[in-house]
Amino acid sequence: MKIYAEITGWGKCLPPAVMINDDLATFLETSDEWIRTRTGIEERRVSEVGTSKLATVAARNALAAAGLEAEDIDLIIVGTCTPDEIIPNVASAVQRDLGNKTAAAFDLNAACSSFLYGMHYATQAIRTGAHKKVLIIGAERLTRILDWTKRESAVLFGDGAGAMVLEASENETGLLASHVTCDADARDVLALEFGMSFDRFGFDGIMPFNFVGQEIFKRAVKGMNTAVEKVFEETGLTTDDIDSLIPHQANKRLIDYLAKMCKVPEEKTVINIQKYGNTSSATLPIAFCEAVEQGIVKPGDTIVSAVFGGGLTCGAGIIKWGQRVTPIRDNNEQLPSQGKSALDLILPLHEGTKAAWEKRGDE
Ligand code: ACO
Repeated sequence: MKIYAEITGWGKCLPPAVMINDDLATFLETSDEWIRTRTGIEERRVSEVGTSKLATVAARNALAAAGLEAEDIDLIIVGTCTPDEIIPNVASAVQRDLGNKTAAAFDLNAACSSFLYGMHYATQAIRTGAHKKVLIIGAERLTRILDWTKRESAVLFGDGAGAMVLEASENETGLLASHVTCDADARDVLALEFGMSFDRFGFDGIMPFNFVGQEIFKRAVKGMNTAVEKVFEETGLTTDDIDSLIPHQANKRLIDYLAKMCKVPEEKTVINIQKYGNTSSATLPIAFCEAVEQGIVKPGDTIVSAVFGGGLTCGAGIIKWGQRVTPIRDNNEQLPSQGKSALDLILPLHEGTKAAWEKRGDE
């Protein structure tokens, strides 16, 4: 008997503070018009709390949708490139805050591809019988690592989290095929210099964010193209079999390209980049969650997904949704506002980084 990894729970957490493009134009040389036309982004969220708190709320919502309790879970995977600490991992904070005592818990960093990577390996773990009920989370607080003096990258990203529960099942559902890879020759085109390679004694407040947008764009198109072709080949499915496209949300122009390639019409392509910007590993689970809530995903639908991110990691998957599209318990818990606006949260980061660059004298 073949075992599948059915998606039984889904949840998200979007921090309440909203930063619109015009807010960015108050301290960066940019405009709403440039950001909208080049990226599709209109606003993004800024979190007052750490990644693990965002992750925990999304996880609780996913458990509620699945009708499970925390102790039912035997593996927690958190995809993130913005952990609160290097040790211990975010997954252990989620485990503690959910009240689970027994699950294995680890973080996975494939940048924006982390969630699909997580689904890929969690599905294998369920198929082999190693795990039965897995919680996968994509959670990021990117607004803390951006260089807010650099308009070419600062306007693109936002904070948020999304989660899914995968359960062992005899139904032919879940991730039916997936392909994950990495174009490591291009690892420098999207890089944040920090962590162990960083000289803490020389730290002057600047975390250099190397971001070569056009090169990333070019390689992302090529990588996703190949990955999508591979998953079609593996399943024997064609674009005629696809009900919807749920891609990573990095740029609206990239999503439009992908939709054309997969021959998915606009109304069947899930796009929420206008509301949240690029939330890295969180874009995919948030998009899945909203697609279900908005009735875009229907029982038994076949979905194609494609992602790319720093590394440059890349991947694609074909997902068959199960028969249930309504949560078992209410899955709408959200974080309360603590009273600060997005600009209140970001301006000190902008000022601090600007002063640091001025001191260094090489802006
Ligand atoms: N506001 C106004 N002008 C800007 C801004 C801004 N925020 N940023 C750049 N510009 C200027 C540039 O300086 C340049 O000016 P110039 O012509 O006088 O030199 C001009 O706009 C055009 O810049 P390009 O970089 O050529 O703009 P492009 O159309 O390539 O769009 C973008 C840039 C949006 C970053 C695009 O390359 C892209 O989406 N890349 C891939 C997506 C991506 O990288 N996503 C995130 C990384 S992957 C992950 O998910 C972690």
